[in-house]
Amino acid sequence: MAAAAHRAAHQLLEHGSIFSDPLAVRILGQDAELAARAAREQPARRRMRLFIAMRTRFAEDALAAAVECGVRQLVVLGAGLDTYAYRSPWGDRVRIFEVDHPATQAWKRARLANAGIEEPPWLSFAPVQFEQEALADGLRAAEFDPGQQSFFTWLGVVPYLTEAAIWTTLGFIAGVPGGAHLVFDYADPPESLSPEMRAYYDLGAARVEALGEKWLTHFEPQDLHSKLASFGFREIEDLGPPEIRARYFLSYTGPLPERGGHVLRATTVGS
Ligand SMILES: C[S@@+](CC[C@H](N)C(=O)[O-])C[C@H]1O[C@@H](n2cnc3c(N)ncnc32)[C@H](O)[C@@H]1O
Repeated sequence: MAAAAHRAAHQLLEHGSIFSDPLAVRILGQDAELAARAAREQPARRRMRLFIAMRTRFAEDALAAAVECGVRQLVVLGAGLDTYAYRSPWGDRVRIFEVDHPATQAWKRARLANAGIEEPPWLSFAPVQFEQEALADGLRAAEFDPGQQSFFTWLGVVPYLTEAAIWTTLGFIAGVPGGAHLVFDYADPPESLSPEMRAYYDLGAARVEALGEKWLTHFEPQDLHSKLASFGFREIEDLGPPEIRARYFLSYTGPLPERGGHVLRATTVGS
C-alpha cells in the first residue's frame, strides 16, 4: 500500500515525470487522495516517493529492451499493487506472472475488482510465501515455462526477506534454463550511511517494524555483486545514489548522499 501510495502521489504531484502510470491512481480508489494529501503535508516523503518512481521506471525500461531481445515471460515477484500487468503493451506476446504473499494477492484482487480493473488473459497469479514455499512450485502450478527467456522484477521486497530466502530465490532465477533477466532494489547497510541518511532510514525502519514488517537484509554492493556472479549472473548494472541522480535527477541540487538505496539489473542470458 505504501509503495502504491507513493506511485499515485507521484502522478498527482509530479505528473508522473519520472514514471508515468495511468493506473496508479485508479487502483487506489479513494485512498489516492489520502496519499496525495500525505505527500503534500509531509515533504520528507518525497525522497522515498521519487526512489520508488525511479526503480519502477528503471525496471520497465529494462523489460522493454529485453522483450525486444526475446523475453516472453515476466515474473513480478512481490507484486503488491504494481499495475504493469494491467497496462502491458505486449498483449499475448509476454505472459505475466504475479507472485506474492497469498494474503497480499487476495487483497489486491479485491481492490482490482473494486476499481473495475480487469485481470487480462496474459496474467496468471502465483501465491507464494517466500520464507516457506518454493518459488519453483508456485510458478509451476501457474504454468510458467522455464524454457522461455524470462524477466523477473523484485521491487521493494528484498529488504523484508531473510538472506536464506533471498539466496534461494536468486538460485532459482539463475537456474531458469531459458535464461533470466532480473531487476531488484536493495539498501546499503544502515551503519554505512551518513548521519542524515541514517536518520531518514531509522524513521522508515521504525515505521515498517511497527507494522510487523521489519527490514531484515542490507548489502554491501561488492559482496552482493560477488554473490550474484557466483550464481551465474553477469552484466551487473547497479545504480547507487550518485548514479541514480546522474541518470534521473540531474536538476536536483540538494545534498547528495553517497549511500542509500540501489536498483540493480543483471542477467544470465548470453552466459
Ligand atoms: C513494499 S511491497 C512492494 C510491492 C511492489 N513490488 C511495489 O513495488 O509496489 C512488498 C511486497 O513484498 C511482498 N512480500 C514481503 N514478504 C513476503 C514473503 N515472505 N513472501 C511473499 N511475498 C512477500 C508483500 O506481500 C508485498 O507485496
